[in-house]
Amino acid sequence: HITPVVLAGGSGTRLWPLSRALYPKQFLALSGTSTLFQQACLRLAALADPHTTIAAPLVVGNEEHRFMLLEQLREIGTSQSTLLLEPIGRNTAPALTLAALASRAAHGDDSILVVTPADQTVTDGPAFTRALRQAVAAAADGSLVTLGIVPDRPETGFGYIHSEGADAVRRVKAFVEKPDRATAERYLDDGGYAWNSGMFVLRASVWLAALAHFRPDIAQATEAAWAGRSTDASFVRPDKAAFAAIPGESIDYAVMEPCPADAASGFSVKMVPLDAGWSDLGAWDAVWQVSERDAQGNASHGDALIEDSRNTLVHATSRLVGAIGLDDVIIVETPDAVLVTDRSRSQQVKQIVASLQREG
Ligand code: GDD
Ligand code: MG
Repeated sequence: HITPVVLAGGSGTRLWPLSRALYPKQFLALSGTSTLFQQACLRLAALADPHTTIAAPLVVGNEEHRFMLLEQLREIGTSQSTLLLEPIGRNTAPALTLAALASRAAHGDDSILVVTPADQTVTDGPAFTRALRQAVAAAADGSLVTLGIVPDRPETGFGYIHSEGADAVRRVKAFVEKPDRATAERYLDDGGYAWNSGMFVLRASVWLAALAHFRPDIAQATEAAWAGRSTDASFVRPDKAAFAAIPGESIDYAVMEPCPADAASGFSVKMVPLDAGWSDLGAWDAVWQVSERDAQGNASHGDALIEDSRNTLVHATSRLVGAIGLDDVIIVETPDAVLVTDRSRSQQVKQIVASLQREG
């Protein structure tokens, strides 16, 4: 029995000005016709086969996005989902805990959760399905399974997994979340490290036990918020005040990083390599990477004219944008804000968002 869990409550600030607090990137169609959130749901639905029952997905998102979530699920014909609505973001460890508690309430302790972020693209569907089936098999014995990507740059926005051997399922020796630049360069040179895809496959009971071991504070606070929940059709809401009191932390820092470092804890962490054209649309540079490009490497979305330029992305939503003589530039036009940045600096967009938030 498999339960998909889609984590869809992030704010996606590095894709400003397209991604906004009320309309973050997972709800945008940045590649293809369906949104990133819909693609994540559809990818997991493809795991079903004659021997495997897949429960309706548990979607964990923000209260403010409930109607958008519902509408986007309806568009892809997934109306049986339970929507676990957070009053405020407390990062992914509490979000996954809500899903594990909901799964336990619905299916007992033994369901295998297939957890996915809602802000990624995958180009090779069949390879994705094969790797996930392997991960599901590996999680059946109680392992926490991650999916690892072969890295091609010293990205500091990802987790790094050090694993053993070259089998389809590998033991994880170490997990390092978001290392600094020098460390990331060392891992890339070493060759034995994979990027954490942010997808995890594990039994609900194993997640709850691992969290209770490494972060009992988060486990207890989330259980208290869950105990006070209210249900309204497909919306399930944890108790608001109790949820706000949960310490915010990611799955990666709360459990995945300490777990392999503590052999005495008895938890086993495994990695399945994923080679399926995976991309995390973290920042505009990644959108350029996954976009269809012309011979000069330029990509345009919407009404754009690009002349005599190279490796440039223009994303226009409401006006015609002309660009001449640019190398490695990103331009994003929306009705009330325009971004122009060097492609290599697109991670810094979050600084603009932070200063906008300070100004209120
Ligand atoms: N429900 C809920 N609540 N979802 C959340 C919250 C929250 O408070 N915060 C983030 N999410 C969702 C995001 O929408 C996204 O789909 C997913 O959880 C992952 O969160 P990110 O904030 O995007 O994480 P990250 O990109 O910094 O890092 C993670 O993903 C990388 C790969 O993309 C980590 O797992 C890294 O180790 C990994 O390499
Ligand atoms: Mg992300």
